[in-house]
Amino acid sequence: MATIFYTASTLDGFLATEDHSLEWLMRQDFDQEGPMAYPAFVQNVGALVMGRSTYKWLREHEEKWGYSQFTWVFTRQDLPLPEGADVRIVGGSVAENFEGIEASAQGKDVWVVGGGDLASQFAAAGHLDEIWVQFAPVMLGKGQPLFTQELELELVELAQNRAFVCTRYRVLKNS
Ligand SMILES: NC(=O)c1ccc[n+]([C@@H]2O[C@H](COP(=O)([O-])OP(=O)(O)OC[C@H]3O[C@@H](n4cnc5c(N)ncnc54)[C@H](OP(=O)(O)O)[C@@H]3O)[C@@H](O)[C@H]2O)c1
Repeated sequence: MATIFYTASTLDGFLATEDHSLEWLMRQDFDQEGPMAYPAFVQNVGALVMGRSTYKWLREHEEKWGYSQFTWVFTRQDLPLPEGADVRIVGGSVAENFEGIEASAQGKDVWVVGGGDLASQFAAAGHLDEIWVQFAPVMLGKGQPLFTQELELELVELAQNRAFVCTRYRVLKNS
């Protein structure tokens, strides 16, 4: 079981534009059967974790809730939940919620969907094991950041998937 921040990013390290658009990502071509693609990754995911903006984007852009795994949404707000889905709203620190998150994954991986600040909170709490980033051939200049703190990583896998550079890093926890 590992906690993994798996995401696409612009080459200059943004997850979305300042106004949370992913149009730059949606127009890219990605081979879903190629290296480090989502279908293979998600097979070993037992629980999802995301911040309020990421959840909001998914609710607004996906016709129906597309995840069968238990999902934890970090927010200080009261948000409407998708019917019939295992989605829980939580606040507070990663440390105080991690035991429940880990248990909900039932021995499988925890996918930190985003954003970058929440992934950074997992790293700061010592609960981030890997970061997988698919870098798109796009610069935005500004936007929602991939990460918000210093972190030392070890590159463990590197591949090309169409125009994306796909990277997999191990988080070095005692650096
Ligand atoms: N490129 C990709 O593949 C990819 C992947 C993931 C996300 N995204 C996009 O990237 C953007 C990320 O947005 P974002 O930077 O605003 O990040 P976010 O993590 O999605 O949302 C940030 C919000 O999460 C809540 N939050 C975070 N930590 C919390 C804590 N410890 N306790 C309680 N609430 C907490 C806060 O919500 P409240 O203000 O409600 O308290 C905070 O304002 C989104 O547009 C998303 O769609 C892109």
